[in-house]
Amino acid sequence: MTDTPPTATGTGAPKRLFIKTYGCQMNVYDSERMADVLRPLGYAPTEAVEDADFVILNTCHIREKAAEKVYSELGKLRQLKEAKDGGLTIAVAGCVAQAEGEEIMRRQPAVDLVVGPQAYHQLPELLTRTARARGERIGADFAPVDKFDALPAARTVEGVTAFLTVQEGCDKFCTFCVVPYTRGAEWSRPVAAVLAEARDLAARGVREITLLGQNVNAYNGEGPDGAPSSLARLAAALAEIPGLDRIRYTTSHPNDFSDDLIAAHRDLPQLMPYLHLPVQSGSDRILRLMNRKHGRQTYFDLIDRIREARPDLALSSDFIVGFPGETDRDFEDTLDLVRRVGYASAFSFLYSPRPGTPAATMAAPVPDEVARTRLHALQALLTEQQVAFNAAQAGQVLPVLFEKRGRHGRQAIGRSPFLQSVHVDDADHLIGEIVEVEIVSGQQNSLTGRLPATAADGPPPPLEQRATASRAVGATPA
Ligand code: SAH
Ligand code: SF4
Ligand code: F3S
Repeated sequence: MTDTPPTATGTGAPKRLFIKTYGCQMNVYDSERMADVLRPLGYAPTEAVEDADFVILNTCHIREKAAEKVYSELGKLRQLKEAKDGGLTIAVAGCVAQAEGEEIMRRQPAVDLVVGPQAYHQLPELLTRTARARGERIGADFAPVDKFDALPAARTVEGVTAFLTVQEGCDKFCTFCVVPYTRGAEWSRPVAAVLAEARDLAARGVREITLLGQNVNAYNGEGPDGAPSSLARLAAALAEIPGLDRIRYTTSHPNDFSDDLIAAHRDLPQLMPYLHLPVQSGSDRILRLMNRKHGRQTYFDLIDRIREARPDLALSSDFIVGFPGETDRDFEDTLDLVRRVGYASAFSFLYSPRPGTPAATMAAPVPDEVARTRLHALQALLTEQQVAFNAAQAGQVLPVLFEKRGRHGRQAIGRSPFLQSVHVDDADHLIGEIVEVEIVSGQQNSLTGRLPATAADGPPPPLEQRATASRAVGATPA
């Protein structure tokens, strides 16, 4: 317990940092980077909130429930702070901080500082200032360039997979969505900066990176020649980095899917054949009201073209159910789209009106009960497809990147190219390796595999980039 607020000297006993992360992968990345920024000040991460000297809630504003969670969590933290006689600094970061920073300060006086998603590199400075005057709020002027320049070059990573933010912000203004307001305009990091970070990750043993952006396929960071580079060109440059064997990216927008990115799925074995391509609705009328700027046929055509380039491509999507004005007929169109595409997995959400977005004041809100019934029907269909997709892997041989130990004995857990979790017995000596695995069965949320006789013991076999024998077929053809 301490009465002295944290200082920026980095001396004395290690101070403990607890970060709770809500929302999307970009927040996961940001939380890791906040820990990196605070490490030189003597902060070491702790898993136990009661031990913490500094707690950061990295928040999400996307749906009402996500945003409201923050306030109940802050209530608990206030009690902890009181129990510690004030010896706890509380910060709110992320998209709620950006959207309603003042309200946070007003509703919960125990909060010491509020820092938006583009300003967290200033945490060290903020902490010293907070030592003098409580109640600091740093919103963002949406200049991620300063943030990335200020972050430490070296990252602390655990394990063999990592997220890497390459693009932030959104110019699309879908009528339901807060992201353009919380993350600002689309902005891409320069190619050189991304490559430097990726090389550092590879040197630390990372084998798979997931490139992140709210509209990652709109990436247009400055290339070595000073001209904007596409995501496809960035991926090709990343594929040259020794040890970096798998590249993924999320989230893509159908309207930003360029021909060179489609070609990259054919030409770059490192690009994994699994794509998150949210469509939100299968109804042209609702897509228009959502301002998605494309119709269902465009989406079908795009998927056909990507599958032509990469026939084993598996897809996932996000869906919103109960958007204002959605009729039974519109919802039927969504079910029809799902049947036609065939998803390996997908997320579906009840529409949540967000303050300040155009949809929040649209006519004909869907009654809650109707929306819930639709959501259950959609989820039943998506689950059915996921189960079928996983079951269809039985009998295949898939390259699996082993990431961690499982619960039983020498079991290890890894990922298939399609992001499925694969459980294999007696494989813990292979963690960090990509190994061909015979899939025995597929359940709803994971696959069970076994090692071929040659890999079962002894040194790991040589790297396999892409198993030609592993071409799996989606549950439902397009
Ligand atoms: N940039 C991505 C999505 C970011 S938000 C894209 O364009 O698809 C992640 C998901 O949250 C969205 O795909 C959408 O399905 C969901 N979402 C966003 N706003 C929402 C709202 N107001 N109510 C319910 N779901 C929402
Ligand atoms: Fe939100 Fe639409 Fe931008 Fe995605 S594309 S972040 S859903 S506004
Ligand atoms: Fe949530 Fe912000 Fe991500 S609103 S989904 S944390 S960009």
